[in-house]
Amino acid sequence: MAGVVLLCATSCKSKIDKTIDEMLQKMTLEEKARIIVGTGNEGRWVSETSFGDMKNIVPGAAGTTCPIERLDIPFVILSDGPAGVNIDSTRENESGTFYCTHFPIGTVMSSTWNTELVENVGRAIGDEAMHYGVDVVLGPGMNIHRHPLNGRNFEYYSEDPLLTGKTAAAMIRGIQANGVAACPKHFAANNQETNRMGNDVQVSQRALREIYLKGFEIAVREGHPKTLMTSYNKINGISVSERHDLVTEFLRDECGFDGTVMTDWYGGDHPEEQMKAGNDLIMPGQQWQMDSIVNAVNAGRLDIKYVDECVRRILKLVYTSPRNQPGHTYDNNPDLKAHAEITRQSATEGIVLLKNDAQALPIASSVKNIALFGCASYDFIPGGTGSGDVRRAYTVSMLEGLQNAGYEIDPLLSARYDEFVKKSVAENLTKVTARFADMVRIRPDEMPLTESEIAAQVQRADYAIITLGRTCGEYYDRTSSDFVLTDVERAMIENVCRAFHAAGKKVAVVLNIGGVIETASWKNLPDAILCAWQPGQEGGNSVADLLSGKQNPSGKLPMTFPVVLSDIGANANFPVDQTSENVSVASRRVDRGEKNVDFTRYDEGIYVGYRWFDSRQVEVSYPFGYGLSYTTFDYSNMKVKQSGKEIKVTVDITNSGTVDGKEVVQLYITAPGASMDKPAKELKAFAKTSSLKPGKKETVTLVVKTDDLRSFDETSKKWQLEPGTYKVMVASNSRDIRATETIEIK
Ligand code: GLC
Repeated sequence: MAGVVLLCATSCKSKIDKTIDEMLQKMTLEEKARIIVGTGNEGRWVSETSFGDMKNIVPGAAGTTCPIERLDIPFVILSDGPAGVNIDSTRENESGTFYCTHFPIGTVMSSTWNTELVENVGRAIGDEAMHYGVDVVLGPGMNIHRHPLNGRNFEYYSEDPLLTGKTAAAMIRGIQANGVAACPKHFAANNQETNRMGNDVQVSQRALREIYLKGFEIAVREGHPKTLMTSYNKINGISVSERHDLVTEFLRDECGFDGTVMTDWYGGDHPEEQMKAGNDLIMPGQQWQMDSIVNAVNAGRLDIKYVDECVRRILKLVYTSPRNQPGHTYDNNPDLKAHAEITRQSATEGIVLLKNDAQALPIASSVKNIALFGCASYDFIPGGTGSGDVRRAYTVSMLEGLQNAGYEIDPLLSARYDEFVKKSVAENLTKVTARFADMVRIRPDEMPLTESEIAAQVQRADYAIITLGRTCGEYYDRTSSDFVLTDVERAMIENVCRAFHAAGKKVAVVLNIGGVIETASWKNLPDAILCAWQPGQEGGNSVADLLSGKQNPSGKLPMTFPVVLSDIGANANFPVDQTSENVSVASRRVDRGEKNVDFTRYDEGIYVGYRWFDSRQVEVSYPFGYGLSYTTFDYSNMKVKQSGKEIKVTVDITNSGTVDGKEVVQLYITAPGASMDKPAKELKAFAKTSSLKPGKKETVTLVVKTDDLRSFDETSKKWQLEPGTYKVMVASNSRDIRATETIEIK
């Protein structure tokens, strides 16, 4: 079926163009405005009803384009999200279920540094979309991790634009492999949830080009997405969906994007400006937007040619989408079992081993009984909340994952946790005043442990595992208290470590988190630390596969773990603990000129993440690109060959340890900063080896174009290549340089 879809969409292209021309001739202005304004979200967010009753075609989908019955113009279905298809799992008057696979969150995908794996996950997401009749998957989310407290970082990839762009391009290729459209989002600089619909990002051209647009540029050039979503925020005073310089000049003319641009849901204020900018589709659709387009054309404020261009690009999406191919059917029956296996395996490559003293991991084969502490061990978090969530059939907890792996867990202790979790969640539910309470995952407080309880566990268990949980999601930024451990969490780690170490037994901490937390003050306590992120519905099994040694960790951090928030360049210009009524969604704030709420100044410029920490030699808890393995790797024989505009670097990677493993090789470059200030180093290429057996060697090749070494000059508004000596470094992480060479650029 996929082949037919692709074949038809390609070979009938001229036929489709002819059909579009014909439709444009026949459509009235009202019908053109009608198809520009979508439908969907019936009552989910705002009272205004959208058009027609399209919600029952794929219940729970985010929206649809509108059919024009008079001309037999069909529609398409758009559904979230980046971690899997997010639709209702049950339907009125229908038996059966419509579960989707909750794949690992975006941050797990980038933590794999394995674009082949990411493409494979994308393919599974696209396959589920196809089986459920979804034509456009609203993902990947790919905004830069400018600050760890951004509520939606779980959906996004990295603090670095190259890793972001390459990961997004792979996800897009995967989703689109069978004809379903991907939709990279949110273009661009949507790096906080606080007042996201009204916030004005005040950012330099250089930072925009080198950091916030660069990932989208790579994703468009290497992923060829069929659609793309603009962001809610303004950039330098104008809503992104109304900016012709970004949506048309940059995205289309410069990057070659040839798909359909849509707004974020209810994004933007001026439909006629969105038309002129080239933002084709206004989702999910309200009457006033349609009226505004018709009135603007009739009043001569909006040239019909803009409307026609937008309609043309929407019709191209509609006519080439799966559901509108001849003979297309779908069975609502994807292979969820196979996809569960894909999420279990892919997550193991995105989980990052942060500490492993004296080979504390993998757990020794003599260990049978495990003391499992921490509410998140039992109430495991597969993903983040909001549109990036997935209505999955189940979540494998740490308890289940470890039991599946054959370990014994004290039933009394797990019963204690189950009871505590239920009670604490119920209590916390009463405290939720959030406007979208149904969109937030209510977490329990951490359960205090008594000395005697821990002592009892020391007696019966050979090993202790503690899981720390954090949720985050759309609509809200995290708070500074969410970043640090609670007193109960700290006491749990301290007391369990003291008791188990006194008995000569080891302790591992698992981080089940959606974003960076504080680690420096307590990481010396346990023997091992494993950052599992929110690894999807098979999470407990994925983590157990690593703890038991069935799989060897190969993930590396796609962002920096700072010591404290105040070390972060952007910290003074981020809404940390903003208490004003800054709930972001839908409710457009009146601009009160409030710093970090109505406007946010990106004063740190290009110095985001390791670009900041390394350029200012600030100590970090764990650096960008960091991740351990159960084996070790030697780097040797680095060679650099420059021919014309291409620099080819090869390096031999040898598994110098005792178990099979994969290494992520990173290439950083330090450019001369004569005419412009430059970051201490910048990631310019990366590659992951295949699984190497002990003693085996693989020659890794990394290619950099000299164009990729340019910086964006504010004055000339051009990319500039600085002549001089460049340092070329191959590294295991941004602060573990294994070999260095230099090259001269004329
Ligand atoms: C939301 C999100 C966007 C999502 C869309 C549809 O507001 O910002 O990521 O795809 O609306 O649910």
